Amino acid sequence: MKILMTGGAGFIGSNLVDGLLAAGHEVVVVDNLSSGKRENLNPQVRFYELDICDMGLDQVFARERPDLTGRGHPWPGENGRAAAGLPGCR
Ligand SMILES: NC(=O)c1ccc[n+]([C@@H]2O[C@H](COP(=O)([O-])OP(=O)(O)OC[C@H]3O[C@@H](n4cnc5c(N)ncnc54)[C@H](O)[C@@H]3O)[C@@H](O)[C@H]2O)c1
Repeated sequence: MKILMTGGAGFIGSNLVDGLLAAGHEVVVVDNLSSGKRENLNPQVRFYELDICDMGLDQVFARERPDLTGRGHPWPGENGRAAAGLPGCR
């Protein structure tokens, strides 16, 4: 399965990514690196440095066509950020 993990450079997200890869899945990560780290990124993932509130997220979905998405970040707004069409974004 192809999984798009947002927040995949963070603590919880990167551990989820490693588990998904070990289980044989293909993983794409979207992360704005606001608190995550590049060194957390598994070299097997394709990485997009992008905020989930950015409209460019549509292009990532159109290009990657994931079967499933996973979330490893707080909703924007929980951490002071607000995304068009997503909880907490505007
Ligand atoms: N770490 C824990 O023990 C723990 C326990 C329970 C719940 N949580 C919750 O789980 C969530 C993740 O925790 P964590 O420890 O992995 O945090 P983290 O800061 O390590 O990871 C969050 C990731 O999301 C990314 N991110 C944040 N906002 C983003 C945005 N708008 N667009 C794209 N990427 C964005 C960050 O850059 C980071 O890589 C938090 O909401 C936290 O409160 C954490």
